[in-house]
Amino acid sequence: MIVIKTPKQIDEIRKSCKLARKILLHTKKYIKPGISTEELNKIAHKFIIKNKAIPAPLNYKGFPKSISVAINNVVCHGIPSSKDILKKGDIINIDITTILNGFYGDTSITFPVGKISPQTQKLINVTKKVMNLAIKSLKPGKLLNNCVGKTIENYVSKFGFSSVRQLGGHGVGLEFHEEPFVFHHWLREKKSNPTSNPILKPGMIFTVEPMINASLNWQIEIDKNDGWTVRTIDNALSAQFEHTVLITNTGHETLTKL
Ligand code: MF3
Ligand code: CO
Ligand code: CO
Repeated sequence: MIVIKTPKQIDEIRKSCKLARKILLHTKKYIKPGISTEELNKIAHKFIIKNKAIPAPLNYKGFPKSISVAINNVVCHGIPSSKDILKKGDIINIDITTILNGFYGDTSITFPVGKISPQTQKLINVTKKVMNLAIKSLKPGKLLNNCVGKTIENYVSKFGFSSVRQLGGHGVGLEFHEEPFVFHHWLREKKSNPTSNPILKPGMIFTVEPMINASLNWQIEIDKNDGWTVRTIDNALSAQFEHTVLITNTGHETLTKL
């Protein structure tokens, strides 16, 4: 069931979303060659606690850290570690989810570490652009998958990139992961489907978080040792951007925008 949020809930979720973005931009300042992902985790954790919030990933289904990270061919859900040291030319996604006063906000950005190659910069630019194109198209009365999945698949294919299918966006706000599951590829369904392709309605809140691989292969695999880290199956680079959005009476509002 997709929960339509009340105006009061929306106000609370908006606060959590803006805090999540603030934490993300604070943590960004420390990204440089030589820093470990565990140091970034500590920085984000301290700042979240200082702001009277809780890091949603910590102990979520056994996840051991306060943020998730993804370097290069890691798609998402990487566990911060003192052994993972950033180096020049890497890209790193940092994903922050806060619980503020019981309400969730979820956002991520992929950052370059020092100077990166033009092809890698292109992947970052296309991924950010396609998230924004999908968000721009959101409006009540339209089908979710036409706005998000179709837009994303059509745009990234022009660059020889692909959009990961096994993971997607999600309803968010009262819980970390709510319905609907937000597909980032086109389902080619012409009609609405209450779970995979709902008609957008004011008060819906969900994430748009495409994971774009620098390869035509959208397949992924999960690390057998830690059970979390998701990598591209062909070791291609992967980038991701994420915003939490609200459907309004006239269109949409990006809640994780400052
Ligand atoms: N924040 C991620 C998302 O966008 C989920 C991370 S789950 C974790 O849905 F346990 F890995 F942190
Ligand atoms: Co999310
Ligand atoms: Co996230």
